[in-house]
Amino acid sequence: MRAQIIGLGYGLPERRLTNQDLEKMVDTSDKWIVERSGIRERRIADQPIKCSDLAYQAAEMAVQRAGISAQQLDLIIVATSTPDMFFPSTACIVQDLLGATNAAAFDLSAGCTGFVYGLDVAHKYLLADDCHYVLVIGAEIISRILDYEDRNTCVLFGDGAGAAVLGKGSDAYGILSSVLGADGSGAAHLSMPAGGTAMPASLETVQNRLHFLRMNGNEIFRFASRITSEISSQVLQKAGYTYSDVDIFVPHQANIRIIRTAMKRMNIPAEKTLINLDKYGNTSAACIPVALFEAEQEGRIKAGDLVLLVAFGAGLTYGGVLLRWGRD
Ligand code: UT7
Repeated sequence: MRAQIIGLGYGLPERRLTNQDLEKMVDTSDKWIVERSGIRERRIADQPIKCSDLAYQAAEMAVQRAGISAQQLDLIIVATSTPDMFFPSTACIVQDLLGATNAAAFDLSAGCTGFVYGLDVAHKYLLADDCHYVLVIGAEIISRILDYEDRNTCVLFGDGAGAAVLGKGSDAYGILSSVLGADGSGAAHLSMPAGGTAMPASLETVQNRLHFLRMNGNEIFRFASRITSEISSQVLQKAGYTYSDVDIFVPHQANIRIIRTAMKRMNIPAEKTLINLDKYGNTSAACIPVALFEAEQEGRIKAGDLVLLVAFGAGLTYGGVLLRWGRD
């Protein structure tokens, strides 16, 4: 038995925020953003759109494309750093919207690695006899926690959601191996400092702009440039493959320079690498499922392809999943 992705979906808000738009908002330039990150535009969800709305849009499509009913889902995982609220979980809100009355539901907090973490949980859950279908969603409205006075961060992120339904299948397709990890000593490098029990919301926290994302970009850059190829190597080795066996490489879409470093180390060419950060920026947990959805639509991923997913993010977390694309 293998856990197979049997349906994908996505949800992207319509409004585009281009680098030229940002030039009017902060001291930045299209040239700097493109050269330093590779991003040209990103999507922004305007109020009153919530994280659960994007998640639901992606989920509904994934369930439909999987060819199952929402009632058949046993578990719903929403990977997000920007939930509708602290509690209840966004997963419970999505469960209700879908009418997935037989599913347990929880949110998963692993930053940009959330979707990869979610796949690993789904994979292990599906080994149990009483679990048949798991829905994993990566959904973010990062724009709502971005400080549009901070040029170091506001140019990098965008909003969106992607979803995958996983079911059980034969050994021919599905997840072959996965590796997850975390280095909590780097927690301070990417966080939203206030609003939790460490620093409850107060007039002062709002005045000091502590409810916005804070990032030490250089530290994350160093970490990401190292970890992407390391995790790739581990996850491939675990399943008995090497870099040259990879048909499609799907890296987390944070920065084109991080992706190029990994491609160079692993000797993976551009035609095997999925890149969509130019259009959407870093949509955190949504990057990988949205990239997979688009690639499948465009016919870039075919049944039988060896697909390598790798992500890193707040935590610091990191993870990789290797799968043989397709379903029975
Ligand atoms: O999903 C995980 C989340 N995050 C990441 O993966 C982010 C990883 N890090 C990065 O992608 C890069 O470190 C950044 C894109 C954040 C920064 O790129 P960099 O090439 O490392 O730039 P830097 O931080 O070294 O800054 C270089 C200069 C600085 O000016 P000074 O001090 O040299 O005068 C910055 O103030 O660029 C300046 N700068 C900007 N200039 C124009 C920073 N942001 C901007 C901007 N526009 N938006």
